[in-house]
Amino acid sequence: MKLIVAVDEQWGIGKNGDLLMSIPDDMLYYRATTRGKVVVMGYTTLLSLPNSKPAPGRLNLVLADIPGLRVSGAVVCGSMEQLHRMIGQFASDDVFDIGGGSMYRQLMPYCCGAHITKMRFVGEADTFIPNLDEQSGWQVAEESELMDHEGLKYSFVVYRNDSPEPLPVAESLSTDMSVYFKKREPIEIALIDDEQYRAELHELLNAYFYPLRDGFGADDVARFLEDNEGLSFEQYLRSHRLIAAAEDLDALMQRYGCESAERVSVTKDNLNDIL
Ligand SMILES: NC(=O)c1ccc[n+]([C@@H]2O[C@H](COP(=O)([O-])OP(=O)(O)OC[C@H]3O[C@@H](n4cnc5c(N)ncnc54)[C@H](OP(=O)(O)O)[C@@H]3O)[C@@H](O)[C@H]2O)c1
Repeated sequence: MKLIVAVDEQWGIGKNGDLLMSIPDDMLYYRATTRGKVVVMGYTTLLSLPNSKPAPGRLNLVLADIPGLRVSGAVVCGSMEQLHRMIGQFASDDVFDIGGGSMYRQLMPYCCGAHITKMRFVGEADTFIPNLDEQSGWQVAEESELMDHEGLKYSFVVYRNDSPEPLPVAESLSTDMSVYFKKREPIEIALIDDEQYRAELHELLNAYFYPLRDGFGADDVARFLEDNEGLSFEQYLRSHRLIAAAEDLDALMQRYGCESAERVSVTKDNLNDIL
């Protein structure tokens, strides 16, 4: 796991629940670095995202101490122990801690690296992270040239931690799951006159266009961790029809012998009219 954060000269990261400064190139760097990855965040940081919604194209793991909380499109962990075990479902290089202060502080010992955008100003922050230049085991691996955004100087610095603490690792690691959370292209499906087929199709198409629509709460996480029958997280979610791949729809159509049936194009917009 790595962390990614923008800091001021005092390692301040936020104020009044918001960022200290938004630099367009830093946002692009953040998006490019975390695209297709698993992003881990505290509930306050989730609320600070656009429309308080999970970041698209990424699997979002949210830590919150709110019993029963469900967040559409995201996985909510109810304790740090649960979160550790969920992070251990993925290859370490695929996981990014995206904040905020409490998450950086708690997960820093487990991170093998950090992408730090160093902003040369003092933002009067109310939220800080430890200064990596003073943490043993952490050292600068790469540093960009100094850049400028409307007079604000900044640089991208990559740190390496030589002795990260290990997290429990699952036997069966999940593969890249970002595809399920990306904008879906229209999909061709067969409509046959069979009630059972239509019901299954409805369920699968919803999982295809709206992954984890009803959220995946801490109780679901606990069930998965206790009883996953050796399945990876991806396989588990697919078998419970909480996410779906195009192959799942193909398999359904094959099972019902729809090969020669006429196909219609389904999108998020016409989904309800068609079914
Ligand atoms: N500069 C950057 O790149 C950057 C990036 C992200 C965020 N930020 C800033 O960071 C600030 C938010 O940071 P924050 O520290 O206030 O919030 P946070 O880390 O985003 O989230 C805190 C939330 O996580 C829950 N939580 C944390 N540890 C937990 C645990 N062990 N068990 C259960 N729940 C736990 C907390 O619940 P409880 O309070 O109930 O424990 C709280 O709801 C904002 O200003 C934001 O803009 C900056």
